Amino acid sequence: MQLIQSLPKAELHLHIEGTLEPELMFALAQRNGVTLPYPSVEALRAAYDFDDLQSFLDLYYQGADVLRTEQDFYDLTWAYLQRCVEDNVVHVEIFFDPQTHTDRGIAFDTVVSGIHRALADGQQQLGISGYLILCFLRHLSEESAFATLAEAMAYRDKIIGIGLDSSELGHPPSKFERVFAEARSAGFKVVAHAGEEGPPEYIWEALDKLKVARIDHGVRCQEDMALVDELEQRQVPLTVCPLSNLKLKVVDDLAEHNLRWLLERGLLVTINADDPAYFGGYLGDNYRACAEALALTDEQLRQLAANGFKASFLPESEKARWL
Ligand code: ADE
Ligand code: ZN
Repeated sequence: MQLIQSLPKAELHLHIEGTLEPELMFALAQRNGVTLPYPSVEALRAAYDFDDLQSFLDLYYQGADVLRTEQDFYDLTWAYLQRCVEDNVVHVEIFFDPQTHTDRGIAFDTVVSGIHRALADGQQQLGISGYLILCFLRHLSEESAFATLAEAMAYRDKIIGIGLDSSELGHPPSKFERVFAEARSAGFKVVAHAGEEGPPEYIWEALDKLKVARIDHGVRCQEDMALVDELEQRQVPLTVCPLSNLKLKVVDDLAEHNLRWLLERGLLVTINADDPAYFGGYLGDNYRACAEALALTDEQLRQLAANGFKASFLPESEKARWL
C-alpha cells in the first residue's frame, strides 16, 4: 500500500461538483443563505445510499445549488487540489457541468473563472497541473448543448476539452453528434461517458459518431468482444471509476469488477474517483480498494498509474516526466 501512496498519479475522470463534501456544502449554504433539506452533515451523508446513477444524480444536482459565487467555485476546486497532495496526484483533468449552474442563473464566467483561478494556484503553489473539460448534460437538448458550446468559445484558452455526462440510458451519444463535430472543429479534445449503465452500442457511437479520444467508464464493453478488440487495438483509454461503480450498483461487489480483466486483456485502463465526496473515496482510496479486492500486483499498480499519464492530454514532453 506504500507503493500506491508513492506512485505519482493522474486523475482523468473527476467531476468537480462531485467533490463537494457535506461540510463544505453546509458552509456554503450558510454563506449564501441557502436552506438545505437536511438538518445536519450526518443526515446528508446518510442519504448517500444510491440504487443507480439517477438516484445519485438527483442528490448531486440538488447539492450543487449551494454554489453561487466565483469564490464558491474557487473554494470547491481548491479543497479538491489540497486533497490531491495527500494522494500524490500530480495532474488532473477536471470535468465541470456548466448547464447545472447557468440554468439556475449563475453566469458561465463565474463558474469557469473560479475553477480556473484555483487550478492556476494549484499549479503555482502545489505543483499540480490541471486542465478543464466542459461536460454537456445529456438529459438536456442538443440545442442547449450548442448554446453552451457557444459560451465556451470565448474560453478556448481555459477549457481543453468537451465531454458528455448525466443520465445515460435513453440519451445515446448520437443525440450529440453534430455539436461534438462543431466542438472538434473548434479544436477541443472530446471525451464521453459511455458504457457505465448504457449498452456497448453507446460505446460504439461515442467512438464512431463523436470520435472521442477517451471513453469515460466503458466497463460494459465486455459484453461485446469485437468492441473489446477495437478498444485494445486502437488503445482508446477507458477512465474507469471502481468505487463509483460499486456505489451506483454497476457491480455488486468490487471483487467482480472487470478492471483487472480489461487491463490483462491489453486495454489502456485508468483508475479514477468520479464523484469522491458521494462515493466514499478519493483516487488513493480507489487504488487501494482495487488492489485488495482484485489482488493487483505491484506491476499492475505501476501500469495503472502510468496509464493515467499516457491517456492524459498532457503534451508528450510532459508525459515523459512521469513515465
Ligand atoms: N455526473 C457526475 N457523475 C456522473 C457519472 N458517474 N455518470 C454520469 N454523469 C455523471
Ligand atoms: Zn463521471
